[in-house]
Amino acid sequence: MKGVILAGGLGSRLSPCTKVTNKHLLPVYDKPMIYYPIMTLVNSGIKDILIVTGGNHAGDFLRLLGNGREFGLKDISYTYQEGEGGIADALKLAENFAEGEKIFVILGDNIVQDNVSKHVEDFINQPRGAKIFLKEVPDPERFGVAVIKDNKIVSIEEKPKNPKSNYAVCGLYMYDNEVFNIAKNMKPSDRGELEITDVNNEYIKRNEMTYSILKGWWTDAGTFQSLYRASCLVAKDAGEKDI
Ligand code: DAU
Repeated sequence: MKGVILAGGLGSRLSPCTKVTNKHLLPVYDKPMIYYPIMTLVNSGIKDILIVTGGNHAGDFLRLLGNGREFGLKDISYTYQEGEGGIADALKLAENFAEGEKIFVILGDNIVQDNVSKHVEDFINQPRGAKIFLKEVPDPERFGVAVIKDNKIVSIEEKPKNPKSNYAVCGLYMYDNEVFNIAKNMKPSDRGELEITDVNNEYIKRNEMTYSILKGWWTDAGTFQSLYRASCLVAKDAGEKDI
């Protein structure tokens, strides 16, 4: 299975910091944000990674990550998303890289405490479809939210005003190669983006979606509040006491 990190977008919610570099290169405690999704992929046994970036500072990724040797990778591939067409639009750019294989996609601003290698193994053995991760949160209206009945996800609602559960859909997704056909046939949402939630809902409709609930903490880091929270969580795990 191959890994894809989506690190496009302009990061306008983190302006002015994102005027001079890409959001995913800002520090989360003692490392650039993108190190965490890379480590999640590497720790789950994935050696082949594509980074999809965009905006005005794409060159900074190459300067920071080079050929990925620091992470024990043979190589890192890079591609460039024009504009901010949404998460599923960025994902479409991974089709050639995937070469028909299943992929593990992580949003560049998502950080997870768990080692997810067991789930990756499970998905490798899943004949087809997709697998997502859920986490119970106090503020589900900020995320895609799973509607669950009889332990099955019946749909996902993107940033609902009145969430039907507290289970946020995390920005870690495993897909078979059909994902590219699904993404190609999608229409932009009201906010003008190709939504990853629409891709996931298509898998749910086909009855091909499985899920796991993360045990450890999970956070995004795309706002100043969540960026600060991410740093605190990572620092505590590193044994930092003065937080
Ligand atoms: O963090 C998990 C949440 O991420 C999910 O629960 C939501 O369902 C999902 O839509 C997404 O919500 P956000 O609105 O927080 O996503 P955001 O626009 O902040 O984008 C997250 C990452 O995706 C960003 O760090 C880089 C990548 N991205 C985003 C866009 C819009 C791209 O690569 N290209 C894009 O055009």
